Amino acid sequence: MNLPKKIQIREVGPRDGLQAEKNLVSTENKIELINRIFKCNIRMIEATSFVNPRAIPQLSDAEQVITRINRPVDSVVSALVGNSRGVQRAIRAGVEEIQVVISASEEHNRRNVNMDIIKSIQQLEGVVPEAFQSGVVVRAAIATAFGCPFEGEISIKQVLWLVGVFLEMGIKQVTLADTAGLGDPLLVSRVVGEIWNRYPNIELALHFHDTRGLGLANSLAGMQSGVTILEASLGGLGGCPFIPKATGNIATEDLVFMCEKMGVDTNVQLEEMLETARWLEKVIGRELPGRVMKAEASESCTPI
Ligand code: COA
Ligand code: ZN
Repeated sequence: MNLPKKIQIREVGPRDGLQAEKNLVSTENKIELINRIFKCNIRMIEATSFVNPRAIPQLSDAEQVITRINRPVDSVVSALVGNSRGVQRAIRAGVEEIQVVISASEEHNRRNVNMDIIKSIQQLEGVVPEAFQSGVVVRAAIATAFGCPFEGEISIKQVLWLVGVFLEMGIKQVTLADTAGLGDPLLVSRVVGEIWNRYPNIELALHFHDTRGLGLANSLAGMQSGVTILEASLGGLGGCPFIPKATGNIATEDLVFMCEKMGVDTNVQLEEMLETARWLEKVIGRELPGRVMKAEASESCTPI
């Protein structure tokens, strides 16, 4: 099996994980969550989003979270933004990186950011240069890149077109997001292969929701295709509030476990990650989807 020696994990739990939680998590707990994730040796983190607080009430404390976390010197603290106002708020708060997002599906884009794809592009063309001038790294996510619950299949042509649009804006880091968990390993290999065929210098990251149980299989297919940045959410928490019956991302600790078993280095402290996932479960107040956290907890059971 052709696998990279090493991958980097971008933790998106504090943003994607929390955004759809109905019960408000306190700012203190969000800060503790991020600080604990850093202690597990994760260095790339999507810490919050600067969006309309009426759309995502859970993350309305974005400024406070960003300014109060303990950032290791080698960390990259990122925040998702959906419009120009968000970009400006994020820059003012002092993030190192912003993640802009456009959906490959017109209908999901409209539901997510309340505008059509062309309008999204025009907005970003206005504000991305401002972010660059402020020394902020800009990454772009293509939501619903592997399928859309409203429009069905997404053509690879559409994804390629959006990658080209981002490149023209000067963005070289692109995340392909399977927002509704509709991708499969073969599709992942094809999409990644075609993008690198056309744009060999683009840095790709992958973001899988585990809605239909294919998240880790898709991640493995991505690694086999040469992708070395994988996004994941602690405990498997999360989901897009604008996708019916959305579920969380692949669980970070499950991804770390799989990589450790296969000898792929993630640099993440698995035991500490599992402890943090169990702490998060208490904070959220219900069972989280992560698998390894449960396997470990039941280790003391009498084996059959
Ligand atoms: N930060 C704070 N407030 C914002 C804001 C932002 N980034 N963007 C808009 N607002 C406020 C405006 O001030 C305005 O407030 P008012 O009614 O009191 O004047 C109100 O929201 C409506 O503004 P408008 O420009 O019409 O924006 P919108 O409602 O169309 O919102 C988005 C656009 C992109 C900000 C919004 O759709 C959004 O936040 N979407 C969530 C995207 C998301 O996080 N998805 C999940 C992950 S992909
Ligand atoms: Zn997501």
